[in-house]
Amino acid sequence: MQEEKTHFGYQEVPKDHKQGLVKQVFDSVTEQYDLMNDVMSFGVHHLWKEFAVRSAQLKKHQVILDLAAGTCDLTTLVVKHLKGDCSVIASDINASMLKKGQYRLLDKGLHKNINFVQANAEYLPFPDNSFDRIFMGFGLRNVTDKAKALASIYRCLKPGGQCLVLEFSHCTDPIVSKLYNLYSFKLLPKFGQWIAKDKDSYQYLAESIRMHETQEALKAMFLSSGFEACSYENLTFGIVAVHKGFKF
Ligand SMILES: C[S@@+](CC[C@H](N)C(=O)[O-])C[C@H]1O[C@@H](n2cnc3c(N)ncnc32)[C@H](O)[C@@H]1O
Repeated sequence: MQEEKTHFGYQEVPKDHKQGLVKQVFDSVTEQYDLMNDVMSFGVHHLWKEFAVRSAQLKKHQVILDLAAGTCDLTTLVVKHLKGDCSVIASDINASMLKKGQYRLLDKGLHKNINFVQANAEYLPFPDNSFDRIFMGFGLRNVTDKAKALASIYRCLKPGGQCLVLEFSHCTDPIVSKLYNLYSFKLLPKFGQWIAKDKDSYQYLAESIRMHETQEALKAMFLSSGFEACSYENLTFGIVAVHKGFKF
């Protein structure tokens, strides 16, 4: 029988290898992850994340999942936005990223009502109808079976709940796109080498963005996973997009 294949950046790999390869990427970049985000986005990733949190219409006492939470930037913003009056689970498949996130929150004195769960987005270990909001920031692109992850998110949302996926997307301006391609393939791997001592992980980042679904294709995936009233907003010429879907 032929092995099922998927993409890891531009490489075609057996489907059951991708998770291990993605793990190597994030194990390798954990220590310099936050610094690299600041440098490579010139700090703009904070604005993208704030936009996602502000567009979620959060309310006090909600139960919120930050999926693929990594070093917990979105968890931090959610907790600050609701002044701690919420219950948040920060979840990630990668133990080293999640540990870093947990330490960062503790350093900021933000630990009340936050729990940490190591889990694969494709097989969320939470009961049906558990969360008012599920955020996934820059995580979906790395998941082996994105449709499975979306179905799992849908199952765990309460009726009336929203899923917000913040992810790199496809630049809508041809001139910006040319500059962005030059930046991504010429400069980004060099920054990765200088700062994180890891060129390959940042080459993977550039490639995985190009292999990720377009805005319209991801919206169609949301719809086929059962989400309703699906929409997206492009940020910074579509370099990033926030996708939103509801469960009614
Ligand atoms: C680029 S980081 C994003 C971290 C954080 N959300 C942020 O916006 O800075 C992507 C995260 O997705 C996690 N991830 C990758 N595949 C995953 C999966 N199948 N399930 C859950 N998390 C996953 C990685 O471990 C990593 O921490």
